[in-house]
Amino acid sequence: MSAYPQALASVRDLQPQQIQKIIEQAFHFKRSGFAASPSLEVHPSAIVLLAFFEPSTRTRTSFEIAAHRVGIKPVTFAADDSTSLKKGESLHETLANLLAMGPNLLVCRHGGDVRVAETLRASQIPWINAGDGQGEHPTQALLDAMTVVEKLGDVEGQRIVYVGDVAHSRVARSGLALFEMMGAEVAVAAPTQWVPEDKAWAKAKKFGSLREAAEWATVCIGLRVQKERHAKAHGADHTIQSHDFRLDKKNLMPLRAEAIIMHPGPFVAGEDLSEEILSDSRCAIHDQVTNGVYIRASVMSGMLAQAVRAGGRI
Ligand code: CP
Repeated sequence: MSAYPQALASVRDLQPQQIQKIIEQAFHFKRSGFAASPSLEVHPSAIVLLAFFEPSTRTRTSFEIAAHRVGIKPVTFAADDSTSLKKGESLHETLANLLAMGPNLLVCRHGGDVRVAETLRASQIPWINAGDGQGEHPTQALLDAMTVVEKLGDVEGQRIVYVGDVAHSRVARSGLALFEMMGAEVAVAAPTQWVPEDKAWAKAKKFGSLREAAEWATVCIGLRVQKERHAKAHGADHTIQSHDFRLDKKNLMPLRAEAIIMHPGPFVAGEDLSEEILSDSRCAIHDQVTNGVYIRASVMSGMLAQAVRAGGRI
């Protein structure tokens, strides 16, 4: 078995030993201040192309910072009015052009465009999914798992609840698969319209309020209301989040002292999270962001080193 997949489209592309290796390497980078590991030496000319067809603050910036930290040169393409998308070029043709420039690694975020997904599947260049519509967000799940390990010692045996708009969340879909693989129980606390209906969630415990879930959970993960996906999915706008599912002091009163509170960001203050939670000693939201840099450094340097060993050109 190779240590890293050729494409990290889903957490299901990873075997348990690969997950462990990625997280261990991330902790090594964190402890050592990005000391190079001999097996992960990066060619000084290696380029990672960050193609972002959807907005991002954390993911895009942390991939860029992680690349600089481990000696990979990042080149960022962010879809905006300064690009030829403005002239009518399609997303998939834009991506095909970026791939034709010969980056050594591609990181791509998109809104679930079918032709972009096809182009990615056909790519000869190793690539990482940085979020694809309602699909997956594998590096978010990995950094969330690293944060749980850091704060609670292990993922195995934890009781993890995703709270809010779970149905539209790629973060929760990747998290469910990864946390279950690592031996945690995963549950949902969501208003009726956002309880996920797909098979993957069939066995998950469902809670009718955050207060109820907080009595059970050791890890509470809030989610933003993903308004941009609602119209597409239902032809209707269900943007009102009941306050029963907001991460706030009142709803989290039953949460045990040694539990942790997480959120992938971005959060909308007052809607999915009350800012008072940021000063709660159990809050790990900014630790997640910090760990994202180490996880992305680990995944990128591992995939690049493997591509070079396999004879890939720089
Ligand atoms: N968590 C996350 O994906 O955040 P961004 O959308 O800011 O990248």
